[in-house]
Amino acid sequence: MEPRHPLVAAFAAHLATRASPHTRNAYVRDVKQLALLAVAGAPPVALERITGSHLRRFLSTLHGRGLSGRTLARMLSSWRGFFKYLAEEGKVKSDPCVGLRPPRSPKKLPDALSPDEATRLVVVGQGHVGLPLAMRACEVGFDVVGLDTDGDRIKRLDAGQSVVEDVSDERLSSALASGRYHPSTDGTAAAGFAAAVISVPTPLREGRPDLSFIESAAALVADRLAPGARAWWLAGHRSTEPAATAALAALDLEPVLDLGLRLGEGTGALLAERSRRLGLDATVVLADTFRGVVGAGSEDPWYRGGEHSDTSVALVEDLLGRFPGISTLVAEGMFPDDTGDALADRSLRLVHIDVDVYDSAKATLEWAWPRLGVGGLVIFDDYGFYECEGVATLGAELMAAAGRALRGITSLNGHLTLVKLSDEPLPTC
Ligand SMILES: C[S@@+](CC[C@H](N)C(=O)[O-])C[C@H]1O[C@@H](n2cnc3c(N)ncnc32)[C@H](O)[C@@H]1O
Repeated sequence: MEPRHPLVAAFAAHLATRASPHTRNAYVRDVKQLALLAVAGAPPVALERITGSHLRRFLSTLHGRGLSGRTLARMLSSWRGFFKYLAEEGKVKSDPCVGLRPPRSPKKLPDALSPDEATRLVVVGQGHVGLPLAMRACEVGFDVVGLDTDGDRIKRLDAGQSVVEDVSDERLSSALASGRYHPSTDGTAAAGFAAAVISVPTPLREGRPDLSFIESAAALVADRLAPGARAWWLAGHRSTEPAATAALAALDLEPVLDLGLRLGEGTGALLAERSRRLGLDATVVLADTFRGVVGAGSEDPWYRGGEHSDTSVALVEDLLGRFPGISTLVAEGMFPDDTGDALADRSLRLVHIDVDVYDSAKATLEWAWPRLGVGGLVIFDDYGFYECEGVATLGAELMAAAGRALRGITSLNGHLTLVKLSDEPLPTC
């Protein structure tokens, strides 16, 4: 069918004597497409009024419809021919295709592994997660190397004796008999694997996963993203995780504490050391009951009182002794009830509240607020932490009532920082 638009028809006639029928048809089809885009535009535009920005939009519309970069390049070359012809005929003043490039096709990703290549699986850790996974993978046709560092466990598995309730001896034996399950302590047995699943236990800290090595990994990435950022950091303590130690070495950071422990971040020492390094004339008051958490109530479903009592004044003083030049004061007792009066005439610039429960956190804040300078900060350490719902509740109440008194800033690591904006009283919550 001949094109109906007079300019397209004229172009087709012009090509009739200059190009093969195949090339002519291809050009005309692409220019008809251009005419359709021009009519469908909002607002529509006449062919002879098309500008470079129209063309850019048309190309991106076609790109969005899934046309490949190659097709778009061909389309653009047909449009170039068309506008060249219109320019020669005096129908357009300038060529809108100048400087235009078709969108690039996305780079083709390497092909996935072929089904034959993708049959070897390594499952590291043959426990409650790893062994059932290895069994299932064998049953659906994978060749599975089940790695574990525990030689006795691997011997038992080799002999068809399961080590977890979820996998029966029969099931294990049939996986062994299939020739597809290979329990081993030897990492080289895994050579040539297509996929590895790591199912080893996460170290626990007070019964919860210790993810400090993930924090260190994040710090490594952060320093790559913002080179020099490490100059602002103090590492609180050295986790026993080997990966965390490696990350600290890579960041050239010496931890403030190195106790060989996973417990106790030593926030007080950290703040005091930072204060010393900044040359501040400030004393860091370390307030703790040394009998564990107090003031747990109905807002705190996980706390009963007495938790985290595994410290002492002597231990803290011993730690502080390792930081000559820092200025600290240990206040033993329930805060503020027992020790608040002795500290009453102090003015504050930063208050770090890590008392885990609603009532203690609120009482501490109410005591501190009138003593905090405008621009001063209050940090709720526990705001985003599982099991510290009471502090999350308090933080939410404060932010809802903030008014002109304060601004709350939450961070991904679970802290809530309140900035004191004015001398207005603490909003009641
Ligand atoms: C998670 S620990 C704090 C850990 C500390 N920030 C560190 O870096 O090692 C919580 C502490 O809050 C203390 N605590 C809770 N309520 C308190 C209160 N009203 N007065 C004083 N200490 C309190 C507990 O004794 C417990 O040691």
